[in-house]
Amino acid sequence: MTAQAFWDRHAPKYARQPIADPTAYEEKLRRVTALLHPTDRVLEIGCGTGGTARHLARVAAHVTATDLSAEMIRIAKARSAADTASRPHFLQAEAKEDLGRQPFDAVCAFSLLHLVDDIPNVLDVVYRQVKPGGYFLSKTVCLKDGPRWMQMMVRVLIGLGIAPQVTLVSRAELTRHLADAGFDVLETRYLGKKRINPFIVARRPVA
Ligand SMILES: C[S@@+](CC[C@H](N)C(=O)[O-])C[C@H]1O[C@@H](n2cnc3c(N)ncnc32)[C@H](O)[C@@H]1O
Repeated sequence: MTAQAFWDRHAPKYARQPIADPTAYEEKLRRVTALLHPTDRVLEIGCGTGGTARHLARVAAHVTATDLSAEMIRIAKARSAADTASRPHFLQAEAKEDLGRQPFDAVCAFSLLHLVDDIPNVLDVVYRQVKPGGYFLSKTVCLKDGPRWMQMMVRVLIGLGIAPQVTLVSRAELTRHLADAGFDVLETRYLGKKRINPFIVARRPVA
């Protein structure tokens, strides 16, 4: 099954699920909001059903939010239809797609990078889409940092079609990939109880 087919099929169930760790989620929104300005143009890749993008649209000037899954984008658009003042611009696109727009002040990728098959390639595309001095804010499941039983369990779930294909990456490897793409990594921290999904603040150098 392709990744798009997987996420299209799982989108309705994903949309019904409560946020797994609301405290960590709120903390992430607070940290992201603190880095943004009301004039900023923001891109979120792998936006899912659009909850985070809709929050960002209330604190930034413009938000473009993309996802591989047409079904996720359909749900995101339906959910934001009643938003009055500011609404994200949702569109179906692969994370590795350069939208060819004017560069963004910030690009976000939450619970996404471990799902793409070529992280360095996606980071190169993200880098091109961030303004010099702009941020790349991410939260990524670094399964390589987890216990072996967890990696084995994920393999079983992938085999059963319950979990999507994942790229095994460690926090150290992810940090290296970010540096190789040209980013300065400013901050890495864990927002919830889990120690396998670091929130990373990276910045494209000014010059
Ligand atoms: C775990 S969900 C996270 C959604 C949202 N970012 C959040 O934090 O709630 C992963 C999302 O990434 C999308 N996705 C998976 N692979 C992708 C890819 N290669 N390009 C763009 N989106 C992708 C899926 O369709 C899904 O909506």
